Amino acid sequence: MSATIKLENKHFPVLLKELISIISPLYGGTFLDCTFGQGGYSKKILEKKNNKVIAIDRDKSVVLYAKEIQQKYNNRFNFYNIKFSEISSIKLESKDLKGIIFDLGYSNNQIKDLNRGFSFKSRGKLNMMMGINNFSCHEVISNMSEENLIKIFKYFGEEKFSKRIARKIVEIRETKKINTEDLAKIVDGVKKFKNYKLNNSTKVFQALRIYVNKEISELIYGLINAFNLLPVGGIIVVVTFHSIEDKIVKFFFKNYSEIKNSSRYLPNKINNIKCLSLKNKKPITPSNAELKLNPPSRSAKLRFAIKTSHKSNFEEFIGKFKKFTDIEKLKFDK
Ligand SMILES: C[S@@+](CC[C@H](N)C(=O)[O-])C[C@H]1O[C@@H](n2cnc3c(N)ncnc32)[C@H](O)[C@@H]1O
Repeated sequence: MSATIKLENKHFPVLLKELISIISPLYGGTFLDCTFGQGGYSKKILEKKNNKVIAIDRDKSVVLYAKEIQQKYNNRFNFYNIKFSEISSIKLESKDLKGIIFDLGYSNNQIKDLNRGFSFKSRGKLNMMMGINNFSCHEVISNMSEENLIKIFKYFGEEKFSKRIARKIVEIRETKKINTEDLAKIVDGVKKFKNYKLNNSTKVFQALRIYVNKEISELIYGLINAFNLLPVGGIIVVVTFHSIEDKIVKFFFKNYSEIKNSSRYLPNKINNIKCLSLKNKKPITPSNAELKLNPPSRSAKLRFAIKTSHKSNFEEFIGKFKKFTDIEKLKFDK
């Protein structure tokens, strides 16, 4: 195998060096890797002998990588095939949980597997399921009303041409089943121009992926459950890849790391106690060297916070993003 081919196949965990330098002061305990993927983060954390990792991923296909790590590290590693909104179901054997890590979005393997339909280069039936889903993208494109398709493209993709794309989908599905290449062609046909920075279909594909996998609700409840699971002094680290994800994480960390003015005229505000400590206000982004080696890392942003006290009410956080979670709840007739 030539050096180039080897490099192409290589998996580059995003912002790995930065993640490790942030969590290493807490070494000597258990870390929960909520987005195991190919195990890039888990493996690196396990290199230090006194660390343990509990890893989860909703994608069954990663069990292969998990088994490999399990063989090497035995009782220092455990894997669960669940969604991270369900992490409270994990029975922690010890109370030494030091950190919870999220590296959001799809993995290298998911985007490269053209049968799974995450990429507009994919062929065949629309899929986009990460794992543990109720329906696929094919069902959405075949059955969702025009009005709701517009909402999905507009809010989850920030797609300017939402109305015209939704109209065309509804028109074409009357005569044929729309597959992945048809969808990319529909978007190209509507947009007619090429944006050289972004493929014409990127926003529509992102929007559908978010809806199919309920990524916004997953993130909101993943963060709340991670916070509740973590002891005081533990760290939450999140790597995001698009602006909606980053807005959610930024709000969660910033809002709960500030003391709000409690007014006697607004007694509810008293609920808003500070329970996180934020070291970096600005996110950490990939270095030039990482960008050169792994260009897809360009949209990554890492934020982290330390838990400073317990808190049970996250209504303000849930309410702030209700506009998005309501769209994820939109139904379609089969
Ligand atoms: C960017 S990859 C993680 C890569 C990993 N850090 C590594 O170094 O190999 C994201 C992974 O998170 C998983 N994932 C995404 N959303 C999830 C969720 N709600 N619950 C559990 N796993 C999820 C995906 O299936 C994917 O494998």
